Amino acid sequence: MADVPPGEPPTPPPTVRLTPAQRAAIDAGHFIRVELDAPFAISRWVATTSALVGRAPGEHEIKAFANLCRHQAVPLDLVDEDDDDFPKPSPAPLSDDGASLICLRHGALYRITDGLCTSGPCAGQRLHGIAVAAIDDV
Ligand code: FES
Repeated sequence: MADVPPGEPPTPPPTVRLTPAQRAAIDAGHFIRVELDAPFAISRWVATTSALVGRAPGEHEIKAFANLCRHQAVPLDLVDEDDDDFPKPSPAPLSDDGASLICLRHGALYRITDGLCTSGPCAGQRLHGIAVAAIDDV
């Protein structure tokens, strides 16, 4: 996550570029974290430098969401690397049924078909989506 200076406008959604290995992981059914070429500002004060990218089970379309919780503006996969008891995301924090991304801080669930938060302190809000057309193979 990066700060955007006050007064600077939010940036347009970035392009998500997938390596062949990342594309293969998505084709194998994983949601993955992808680093962005530049920060994606979703407000004048908050930006993210990564996206969570994958495909809902049984769907053809690849979805990409800003890796930024709507509750406290932290990455969904934020972990304390020094805490051995805290679960590490691998490769992205998904619910057991594979239908939702999980924010590891307070457990909000975001539906991977559309980014809607269905449970948790930000229920009813959505992750910021990145247009599917903006995904390119490299
Ligand atoms: S920061 Fe994500 S649920 Fe609280």
